[in-house]
Amino acid sequence: MDVYRIAGGRRIGGTARVRAAKNAVLPILAAALLTDETVIVQNCPRIADVDNMLAILETLGCQCSREGAQVSIGASGATGWEMPRHLSKSLRSSIFMMGSILGRFRRATVTYPGGCEIGQRPIDLHLKGLRALGVSLREAHGMIYCDGARLHGGEVHLDFPSVGATENVMMAAALAPGRSAILNAAREPEIVDLQRFMNAMGAKIEGAGTDRIVIEGVERLHGACYEPVPDRIVAGTYLVAAAITGGEIEVSGARGADLAAVLDKLRCAGCEVEAQETGIFLRAPEKLSAIEVSTQPYPGFPTDMQAQMMALCCVASGTSVIVENVFENRFGHAPQLRCMGADIRLFDRMAVVRGGRLTGARVAARDLRGGAALTLAGLCAEGVTEVEGVPLIDRGYEALDEALNALGADIRRIQ
Ligand code: EPZ
Repeated sequence: MDVYRIAGGRRIGGTARVRAAKNAVLPILAAALLTDETVIVQNCPRIADVDNMLAILETLGCQCSREGAQVSIGASGATGWEMPRHLSKSLRSSIFMMGSILGRFRRATVTYPGGCEIGQRPIDLHLKGLRALGVSLREAHGMIYCDGARLHGGEVHLDFPSVGATENVMMAAALAPGRSAILNAAREPEIVDLQRFMNAMGAKIEGAGTDRIVIEGVERLHGACYEPVPDRIVAGTYLVAAAITGGEIEVSGARGADLAAVLDKLRCAGCEVEAQETGIFLRAPEKLSAIEVSTQPYPGFPTDMQAQMMALCCVASGTSVIVENVFENRFGHAPQLRCMGADIRLFDRMAVVRGGRLTGARVAARDLRGGAALTLAGLCAEGVTEVEGVPLIDRGYEALDEALNALGADIRRIQ
């Protein structure tokens, strides 16, 4: 399995660009199934999760193609409503194909997605939402058989503002006769983007970005050409890369408003941060200061930036506290950082990090964002760090090594 070999101690800086957000593109690709016309997604990242989603759409009968950063999906030939087991296992977020398959075919057979490295990842709220729309569900042999013959508008209260459950219900309700409402909906920028994209297809959705989303079902949706929002987590990762190595960076195209909680913590750590029209500027301090982070649903501090911030805390002066409130098992990177000399103590969902220095070591990524965090730690560690599990990083980052090398890093991808 590919490894990053990182020579630490080099400043990261310059200008970085980000592609469209993975977590916006994935539901948008799923929603392309809701029309038999062509959908074009622009500025699409070349990452494994997108490739897997396109493969799933092709097994359902869609025509998918990519020209550079432009992806097009033609779902006129789509006939399949059964999700391929092997693909839906490799891509957890394929679970929100349920909503779009049901919206299109009024039935769906999907594999029960397993847990993953960061937690059990239950789907009870997805199923609660679909039942509220009149879908009858039967679970057997690790599969879920959905009958949407009586799909209709309905109201669902989400016990937790689940991003995926919110997206699934939006997609199932778009073509369901009648009005639907999602209460305690997720408010992430990627939800707002999905609403914007689906309305460009002719849907009637409003309220995304608030905790109440209302969907008026329509007869049909048409094609669209759309550029999703920039990836706020990739942008945040680049900002931390500069902060942790004493550099200065401009992440052009990134939207400060989408990362307000992260920018706030980077300022608390002593960084000079400016959210401008053209992007986000950061200058690192001589010495980073310890911080306190508590992950929350948007607009709170994003769980997808928790691992990267822990890497920063490992070299900040003082003792930092990180609480992971969203996923129950998202500290897989902590033991790996300890191999690099980090002083991290875990108490259930809380990590206490006493800042010091990091030294290069051979470590292993356990999940996507943990792998990014270990790469960031390697940038500032003394000596050489080798990060195993690069294919996990490829799921959400387009050639992270090349992007960081263009900013001054010395990373080699070795087999
Ligand atoms: C999305 O996952 C993102 N993935 C995740 O990004 C992100 O961490 C997460 O939202 C939170 O922001 C995509 O958008 C493809 P949730 P999702 O449903 O939808 C519990 C990354 O690194 N829950 O909001 O699966 C769940 O267990 C990935 O890019 C239920 O209990 O997240 C978790 O504790 C990782 N029942 C919490 O809600 C349900 O039915 C948040 O999950 C659904 C979720």
